[in-house]
Amino acid sequence: LARGTTGPDLAGRHVVVSAGGTREPLDPVRFLGNRSSGKQGYALARTAAARGARVTLIAANTSLPDPAGVDVVPVGTAVQLREAVLKAAADADAVVMAAAVADFRPASYATGKIKKKDGQEPEPVVLVRNPDALAEISAERARAGQVIVGFAAETDEVLANGRAKLRRKGCDLLVVNEVGERKTFGAEENEAVVLGADGSETPVPHGPKEALADTVWDLVRERLA
Ligand code: CTP
Ligand code: CA
Repeated sequence: LARGTTGPDLAGRHVVVSAGGTREPLDPVRFLGNRSSGKQGYALARTAAARGARVTLIAANTSLPDPAGVDVVPVGTAVQLREAVLKAAADADAVVMAAAVADFRPASYATGKIKKKDGQEPEPVVLVRNPDALAEISAERARAGQVIVGFAAETDEVLANGRAKLRRKGCDLLVVNEVGERKTFGAEENEAVVLGADGSETPVPHGPKEALADTVWDLVRERLA
Protein backbone atom coordinates (compact mmCIF):
# COMPACT_ATOMS: atom_id res chain seq x y z
CA LEU A 1 0.00 0.00 0.00
CA ALA A 2 1.13 3.53 -0.66
CA ARG A 3 2.04 5.98 2.07
CA GLY A 4 -0.84 7.44 3.97
CA THR A 5 -3.37 4.78 3.07
CA THR A 6 -4.78 2.85 5.97
CA GLY A 7 -5.78 -0.55 4.67
CA PRO A 8 -5.14 -3.68 6.75
CA ASP A 9 -1.45 -3.70 5.81
CA LEU A 10 -0.43 -4.81 9.33
CA ALA A 11 -2.76 -7.82 9.41
CA GLY A 12 -1.08 -10.88 10.91
CA ARG A 13 1.54 -8.72 12.62
CA HIS A 14 2.08 -8.30 16.35
CA VAL A 15 3.25 -4.83 17.35
CA VAL A 16 4.22 -3.50 20.77
CA VAL A 17 3.87 0.15 21.71
CA SER A 18 4.98 1.79 24.96
CA ALA A 19 3.23 4.97 26.03
CA GLY A 20 3.08 7.48 28.85
CA GLY A 21 5.77 8.27 31.37
CA THR A 22 7.32 6.22 34.16
CA ARG A 23 7.07 7.24 37.82
CA GLU A 24 9.89 6.46 40.19
CA PRO A 25 8.67 6.33 43.79
CA LEU A 26 10.40 8.07 46.69
CA ASP A 27 7.88 6.97 49.30
CA PRO A 28 4.27 5.71 49.23
CA VAL A 29 2.92 9.13 48.20
CA ARG A 30 5.67 10.75 46.08
CA PHE A 31 7.48 10.01 42.84
CA LEU A 32 9.80 11.49 40.22
CA GLY A 33 7.88 11.73 36.97
CA ASN A 34 7.67 13.53 33.66
CA ARG A 35 5.12 15.36 31.54
CA SER A 36 4.31 12.67 28.98
CA SER A 37 0.54 12.35 28.47
CA GLY A 38 0.65 9.09 26.51
CA LYS A 39 -1.37 10.55 23.63
CA GLN A 40 1.23 9.83 20.93
CA GLY A 41 1.61 6.21 22.10
CA TYR A 42 -2.16 5.72 22.19
CA ALA A 43 -2.44 7.16 18.69
CA LEU A 44 0.18 4.62 17.56
CA ALA A 45 -1.78 1.79 19.20
CA ARG A 46 -5.10 2.89 17.67
CA THR A 47 -3.70 3.34 14.16
CA ALA A 48 -1.88 -0.03 14.27
CA ALA A 49 -5.10 -1.75 15.35
CA ALA A 50 -7.00 0.04 12.57
CA ARG A 51 -4.41 -1.33 10.11
CA GLY A 52 -5.07 -4.88 11.28
CA ALA A 53 -2.22 -5.50 13.74
CA ARG A 54 -2.49 -7.32 17.03
CA VAL A 55 -1.37 -4.61 19.45
CA THR A 56 0.15 -4.77 22.93
CA LEU A 57 0.19 -1.37 24.58
CA ILE A 58 2.52 -0.98 27.57
CA ALA A 59 0.92 1.98 29.35
CA ALA A 60 2.91 3.88 31.96
CA ASN A 61 0.71 6.08 34.15
CA THR A 62 -1.66 7.34 31.51
CA SER A 63 -5.20 8.47 32.16
CA LEU A 64 -6.62 7.68 28.74
CA PRO A 65 -9.34 5.16 27.87
CA ASP A 66 -8.09 1.75 26.66
CA PRO A 67 -8.17 1.72 22.85
CA ALA A 68 -10.65 -0.84 21.51
CA GLY A 69 -9.20 -4.20 20.54
CA VAL A 70 -5.79 -3.51 22.09
CA ASP A 71 -4.12 -5.52 24.91
CA VAL A 72 -3.18 -2.96 27.56
CA VAL A 73 -0.45 -3.77 30.08
CA PRO A 74 -0.24 -1.13 32.81
CA VAL A 75 3.18 -0.41 34.35
CA GLY A 76 4.53 2.14 36.84
CA THR A 77 8.32 2.32 36.90
CA ALA A 78 11.09 2.03 34.29
CA VAL A 79 12.05 -1.36 35.71
CA GLN A 80 8.47 -2.61 35.29
CA LEU A 81 8.28 -1.12 31.80
CA ARG A 82 11.48 -2.95 30.77
CA GLU A 83 10.07 -6.26 32.04
CA ALA A 84 6.78 -5.78 30.18
CA VAL A 85 8.46 -4.65 26.95
CA LEU A 86 10.91 -7.56 26.91
CA LYS A 87 8.10 -10.04 27.49
CA ALA A 88 5.81 -8.59 24.81
CA ALA A 89 8.69 -8.10 22.33
CA ALA A 90 9.53 -11.83 22.35
CA ASP A 91 7.13 -12.55 19.47
CA ALA A 92 6.68 -9.03 18.08
CA ASP A 93 7.25 -7.94 14.49
CA ALA A 94 7.78 -4.35 15.60
CA VAL A 95 8.30 -2.41 18.82
CA VAL A 96 7.69 1.33 19.09
CA MET A 97 8.97 2.95 22.26
CA ALA A 98 6.96 6.14 22.63
CA ALA A 99 7.07 6.13 26.45
CA ALA A 100 9.11 8.71 28.32
CA VAL A 101 11.25 6.52 30.56
CA ALA A 102 13.00 7.96 33.62
CA ASP A 103 16.76 7.68 33.22
CA PHE A 104 17.24 7.58 37.00
CA ARG A 105 15.32 6.38 40.04
CA PRO A 106 15.78 7.15 43.72
CA ALA A 107 18.45 4.85 45.15
CA SER A 108 16.22 4.02 48.08
CA TYR A 109 12.52 3.83 48.74
CA ALA A 110 11.08 4.96 52.09
CA THR A 111 8.32 2.53 53.09
CA GLY A 112 6.79 5.25 55.28
CA LYS A 113 6.01 8.82 54.20
CA ILE A 114 9.07 11.08 54.41
CA LYS A 115 8.45 13.72 57.13
CA LYS A 116 9.95 17.17 57.73
CA LYS A 117 12.11 17.52 60.80
CA ASP A 118 11.97 20.77 62.76
CA GLY A 119 14.77 23.15 61.83
CA GLN A 120 16.47 20.62 59.54
CA GLU A 121 17.24 20.85 55.84
CA PRO A 122 16.07 17.84 53.79
CA GLU A 123 18.31 14.90 52.90
CA PRO A 124 19.52 15.01 49.27
CA VAL A 125 17.83 12.54 46.92
CA VAL A 126 20.40 10.03 45.64
CA LEU A 127 19.64 8.62 42.19
CA VAL A 128 20.76 5.50 40.32
CA ARG A 129 20.53 4.63 36.60
CA ASN A 130 17.52 2.81 35.23
CA PRO A 131 17.79 0.07 32.60
CA ASP A 132 17.39 1.19 28.97
CA ALA A 133 14.80 -1.08 27.37
CA LEU A 134 15.21 0.39 23.89
CA ALA A 135 18.98 -0.12 23.81
CA GLU A 136 18.56 -3.62 25.20
CA ILE A 137 15.93 -4.88 22.73
CA SER A 138 17.82 -3.24 19.84
CA ALA A 139 21.11 -4.95 20.76
CA GLU A 140 19.47 -8.30 21.28
CA ARG A 141 16.62 -8.68 18.79
CA ALA A 142 14.09 -11.24 19.91
CA ARG A 143 13.37 -12.03 16.25
CA ALA A 144 15.33 -11.63 13.03
CA GLY A 145 13.94 -8.70 11.07
CA GLN A 146 12.12 -7.18 14.03
CA VAL A 147 11.71 -3.43 13.46
CA ILE A 148 12.46 -1.22 16.46
CA VAL A 149 11.50 2.44 16.75
CA GLY A 150 12.56 4.95 19.41
CA PHE A 151 11.30 8.41 20.22
CA ALA A 152 13.45 11.34 21.28
CA ALA A 153 12.43 14.74 22.53
CA GLU A 154 15.23 17.24 22.09
CA THR A 155 15.47 20.93 22.95
CA ASP A 156 18.68 21.83 21.03
CA GLU A 157 20.61 20.59 17.98
CA VAL A 158 17.59 18.41 17.29
CA LEU A 159 18.83 16.57 14.17
CA ALA A 160 22.46 16.16 15.21
CA ASN A 161 21.43 14.86 18.63
CA GLY A 162 18.86 12.61 16.97
CA ARG A 163 21.42 11.04 14.60
CA ALA A 164 23.83 10.38 17.45
CA LYS A 165 21.05 8.92 19.59
CA LEU A 166 19.86 6.63 16.78
CA ARG A 167 23.38 5.19 16.46
CA ARG A 168 23.79 4.88 20.23
CA LYS A 169 20.48 3.08 20.71
CA GLY A 170 20.89 0.76 17.72
CA CYS A 171 17.23 1.01 16.69
CA ASP A 172 15.98 1.15 13.08
CA LEU A 173 14.02 4.40 13.27
CA LEU A 174 14.06 7.34 15.66
CA VAL A 175 11.21 9.85 15.79
CA VAL A 176 12.73 13.14 16.86
CA ASN A 177 10.67 16.05 18.01
CA GLU A 178 11.59 19.41 19.35
CA VAL A 179 10.19 20.21 22.77
CA GLY A 180 10.01 23.38 24.75
CA GLU A 181 7.86 25.10 27.29
CA ARG A 182 4.76 25.10 25.11
CA LYS A 183 5.63 22.41 22.59
CA THR A 184 4.25 18.88 22.36
CA PHE A 185 3.65 17.79 25.96
CA GLY A 186 -0.04 17.07 26.40
CA ALA A 187 -0.86 18.56 23.00
CA GLU A 188 -3.15 16.97 20.42
CA GLU A 189 -0.70 17.68 17.61
CA ASN A 190 2.91 16.96 16.94
CA GLU A 191 5.68 17.75 14.44
CA ALA A 192 8.71 15.53 13.95
CA VAL A 193 11.44 14.12 11.77
CA VAL A 194 11.80 10.36 11.51
CA LEU A 195 15.45 9.33 11.12
CA GLY A 196 16.31 5.91 9.70
CA ALA A 197 19.41 3.84 10.43
CA ASP A 198 19.68 3.58 6.63
CA GLY A 199 20.25 7.37 6.50
CA SER A 200 16.68 8.26 5.56
CA GLU A 201 15.04 11.40 6.92
CA THR A 202 11.25 11.77 6.82
CA PRO A 203 9.86 15.11 7.95
CA VAL A 204 6.33 15.01 9.36
CA PRO A 205 4.62 18.41 9.29
CA HIS A 206 2.72 19.80 12.26
CA GLY A 207 -0.51 17.84 12.50
CA PRO A 208 -2.56 15.33 14.50
CA LYS A 209 -0.68 12.67 16.47
CA GLU A 210 -2.56 10.09 14.34
CA ALA A 211 -0.86 11.41 11.19
CA LEU A 212 2.59 11.00 12.74
CA ALA A 213 1.54 7.53 13.93
CA ASP A 214 0.49 6.51 10.41
CA THR A 215 3.80 7.73 8.99
CA VAL A 216 5.66 5.66 11.60
CA TRP A 217 3.67 2.55 10.60
CA ASP A 218 4.30 3.27 6.90
CA LEU A 219 8.05 3.34 7.59
CA VAL A 220 7.83 0.22 9.77
CA ARG A 221 5.80 -1.59 7.12
CA GLU A 222 8.44 -0.85 4.45
CA ARG A 223 11.08 -2.43 6.73
CA LEU A 224 9.16 -5.58 7.66
CA ALA A 225 10.30 -8.68 5.77
N1 CTP B 1 14.30 4.70 26.69
C1 CTP B 1 14.23 3.45 27.30
N2 CTP B 1 14.75 3.30 28.58
C2 CTP B 1 15.34 4.34 29.21
C3 CTP B 1 15.42 5.60 28.59
C4 CTP B 1 14.87 5.74 27.32
O1 CTP B 1 13.72 2.50 26.72
N3 CTP B 1 15.83 4.16 30.44
C5 CTP B 1 13.76 4.87 25.33
C6 CTP B 1 12.57 5.81 25.24
O2 CTP B 1 11.35 5.10 25.33
C7 CTP B 1 12.74 6.43 23.86
C8 CTP B 1 14.24 6.39 23.61
O3 CTP B 1 14.76 5.46 24.55
O4 CTP B 1 12.15 5.66 22.85
C9 CTP B 1 14.96 7.68 23.72
O5 CTP B 1 14.80 8.23 24.99
P1 CTP B 1 15.67 9.49 25.40
O6 CTP B 1 15.35 9.87 26.78
O7 CTP B 1 15.55 10.52 24.32
O8 CTP B 1 17.14 8.86 25.28
P2 CTP B 1 18.32 8.85 26.32
O9 CTP B 1 19.32 7.86 25.79
O10 CTP B 1 17.83 8.61 27.70
O11 CTP B 1 18.96 10.26 26.15
P3 CTP B 1 18.90 11.60 27.07
O12 CTP B 1 20.16 11.56 27.87
O13 CTP B 1 18.85 12.70 26.04
O14 CTP B 1 17.67 11.54 27.91
CA1 CA C 1 16.27 9.94 28.76
